[in-house]
Formats: sequence, C-alpha cells, structure tokens
Amino acid sequence: GAGYVGGPTCAVIALKCPHIRVTIVDLNQARIDAWNSDNLPIYEPGLEEVVKKARGRNLFFSTDVDKGIREADLIFVSVNTPTKKSGVGAGFSADLTYVESATRRIAAVATSNKIVVEKSTVPCRTAESMRTILEANSTPGTRFDILSNPEFLAEGTAISDLFSPDRVLIGSLQTEEGKDACASLKEVYANWVPRERILTVGLWSSELSKLAANAMLAQRISSINALSAICEATGANIDEVSHAIGYDSRIGPKFLRASVGFGGSCFQKDILNLVYLSESLHLPQVAAYWRQVVEMNEYQKSRFSKTVVDTLFNTITGKHIAVLGFAFKADTGDTRESAAITLIRDFLSERAYVTIYDPKVDEAQIWLDLAEACPATPLETIKKQVTISHSALDACKQKEAVVIATEWKEFKEIDWTAVYSQMSKPAFVFDGRMILDAEALRTIGFTVKVIGRGDRL
Ligand code: UGA
Repeated sequence: GAGYVGGPTCAVIALKCPHIRVTIVDLNQARIDAWNSDNLPIYEPGLEEVVKKARGRNLFFSTDVDKGIREADLIFVSVNTPTKKSGVGAGFSADLTYVESATRRIAAVATSNKIVVEKSTVPCRTAESMRTILEANSTPGTRFDILSNPEFLAEGTAISDLFSPDRVLIGSLQTEEGKDACASLKEVYANWVPRERILTVGLWSSELSKLAANAMLAQRISSINALSAICEATGANIDEVSHAIGYDSRIGPKFLRASVGFGGSCFQKDILNLVYLSESLHLPQVAAYWRQVVEMNEYQKSRFSKTVVDTLFNTITGKHIAVLGFAFKADTGDTRESAAITLIRDFLSERAYVTIYDPKVDEAQIWLDLAEACPATPLETIKKQVTISHSALDACKQKEAVVIATEWKEFKEIDWTAVYSQMSKPAFVFDGRMILDAEALRTIGFTVKVIGRGDRL
C-alpha cells in the first residue's frame, strides 16, 4: 500500500539502501500516478527530496501488484485497517478486510519463498491469521515467514522519524526460521539505524506494543486535557503545569501539550482496538480504563465548543466564525479524526456560519469530512453555512470570532492588528492550540480564550 505509512517508509528504505530494489505497489492507479509525478499524493516535509533521489534508481511505484509480489523476497503489508463500521465489533475493532485480501493475494501469486512483514497496525494475533492463510493457500515448495514490524512515525515528522527512529521493533516467532527472517529484516534497517535501537521480540508482543505505545501517548494527552479543564475553572495555567510536571525526568516534557483534543488516524482507532481486545479477553475493567481516554477526548472537544457558545453571549446562531486549521495537526494535510471536524459540526448544529482556512487541506476533502460528520444534512445545506477561504486574513474578515483548531506556524505570524480592524466588534479569539500570544491580542482589543487558562487569578 502506498499510503501515509507504506509510502514514506519504503521510500526511506530505498534511499538508505541503494543496493535493494524497492517497489511500492497499490491498486489505486491515481495514487500511483501521483507518486510517479511531481505532485506526491501526501504532504510530508522532506518526502519530496527522498522520493526524487531514489525514484527510478531503486525505488519504483506500480499498480502491478502481482509482479511486485512475484519479484520480492520481502513484502511489507501496509494497508488500511480502519475501525469497523458495521457487524461484530462495529465502532471498535479493526476492519481487516484489506490485510486479509493482501495476504490472500500474496499466497495466490507467490512462486518463491517470502518474508511477509505486517506493517499495518493490527490487533494482536493478526500475524497468526496471516500465517494460517498463507500456509493454507501456498503452492508446494514456497515458504512464508511472518514478521511484525509496526511503524512508529508520526505524520508531519515522518521523514526525520524514519531517518533516526527511537527504536525499530521486529516481532517474530521464536523458531529458527522465525529468527532467521527477523535477522534478514534487521539487516535492512541496520543500513542506517544503530543496531542497539533495533529491538527483536515475540510476534504478539510486537503487535501489542504498537497498540500500547499509542494508548500511552493518547492517555498523556487526555490526562493533560483533563487537567486543562481544572486550570480553566481555577485560574491556573496548563502550560505552567505541563512545564512543572515535565521536569520530572520520570515523566518527561514531551506530549504534554493541552489541546482541543487529539485527532489522527491512529490514537482513537488503536485505543478502541485495545478496548475491544480487552472485552474479548473478558477484561471489562481494563476495557473501561482505556475507553475513558477516548471519552475524555470527546469531552475536551465538546467543552471547547461550549466555551465558544458561552463566551459569545450564549448563542452563535446566525453568527460568523472563522476556523483556522482543519488538519488534525500541523505539517500534514491529513484530516482523519481531526478535532476541527467535530468543532465545526457543533457550530453548524448551532446554526452558525463557518469560514474555514487550512494551508494544506484540499477543499474536496473538507466537503467530504463535513458531509460525513453531518449525515442528516444534505451537502447543499452545509455549503450554505460553510465557506472555504484561501488565506487566514481573508477567512477572518467580518467575523465575530476566530477559532484556532490546528497549530500551523503561520497562524502565529498573522497580522492580528489587521485582522482586528476587519472583524465585527467585540472580536473574539479562541485558541485551541495555545499558540498565540494572548496578552498581545488583548492589547490589540480582542477578547481571548485559551485552552487551559482561566480568567480568575
Ligand atoms: C501517532 C504516534 O505519535 C506515532 O508514534 C504513531 O506511529 C502514529 O500515531 C501511528 O500509529 O501511525 P500521529 O497520529 O501521526 O502519530 O501524530 P501525533 O503527533 O501523535 O499527534 C496525534 C494528535 O495528538 C494530534 O491531533 C496532535 O495535535 C495531538 N497532540 C499531540 C496533542 O494534542 N498534544 C500533544 O502534546 C501531542
């Protein structure tokens, strides 16, 4: 698969290992064409340079999946594993349709031995299912070894994460063959990753570690967001609290930024997977514990929407709000599970008018996301309430309030005096990402609300 994980990961492998031929295959012709063009299908700082250096040398993009399978010694399965929308485990467990069909395809087409590497995030024991499918369908004389090699890169920093990962994790069966396969993959990474950072563990530990890492990271954000609510109610400052607790070397300073809520394709999905797994294992207390991390995130988003309504004199009906940022974080055009979507849905249900500006998100994507978030409202109706703008300044013109939903650097550099002069008065700014200088904005004349900062001192 040539998505957010498979594309950058395999492009970096090609760059760092000129002696290895890397072919990225995907059924989606448009996506492969984009990978072969000057306009890559995903935005990621540094990606273009990597692709340009390796493409045509030892990096190829193709829709000929079968040829790719036949020629490869090692195959990364890096396909979508979205949350199931219907059936058993709907809303929680991962939809493994694509993993299964990719695995079946490998079994059907392979004519020589393969190491099959599970790269997609999948709940525990998927590798085992892949092994069963491969063994039941393989032609005599072909052997398959399965490895789990979860990816830990974050979007927006994918290339630097891949260049110098904190660790590479490889899980294998503890058999001779399993260990040999593991050693082969280790050799690939050892071309640029220090060997002591390449960890080898059992197959299931590897799969569970991926879910565990994301669950612990998301839990940190929900914890700090829970504290941000206390700060707002008491006049404490969440920045100061984060700073103070992060100095404890056991806690550490990273991932303690309060926000309007975490988004992205992974955190919620992986926690819900963990919840489902816990329930399947008859561990309801464990399930409830992790579920609360997601519930706190939902609460944080709705709390923020409510602050906007409350501050604008308890009604936003008919009012005009600019939302700056639509991506789930800065430096990516990805909108999956973005907090901005939930906020805008809330504003629309209060019948406010919303103008959106994001430097990297396509207009078509915004309409898709809003249509999905408001299934009961026809898109034409949504379009009467929503405008998409091509600059931040333009988006804010004549609005009552500006909401910062994504921490894009350019929002810090906006000429806020110019914005203020063109807004309706009183003019409000709601900083859901704690990136603006609230005091400076107040001096200009804005009323400012910041996540995690109370009015009372
Ligand atoms: C996350 C993990 O960080 C990666 O290690 C993992 O590989 C990836 O999921 C995955 O499973 O594929 P990603 O979702 O790309 O990466 O981005 P993050 O940087 O983790 O941010 C997730 C969300 O949390 C964003 O909405 C971000 O704004 C928010 N966040 C992050 C906070 O609100 N506060 C913080 O302190 C950090």
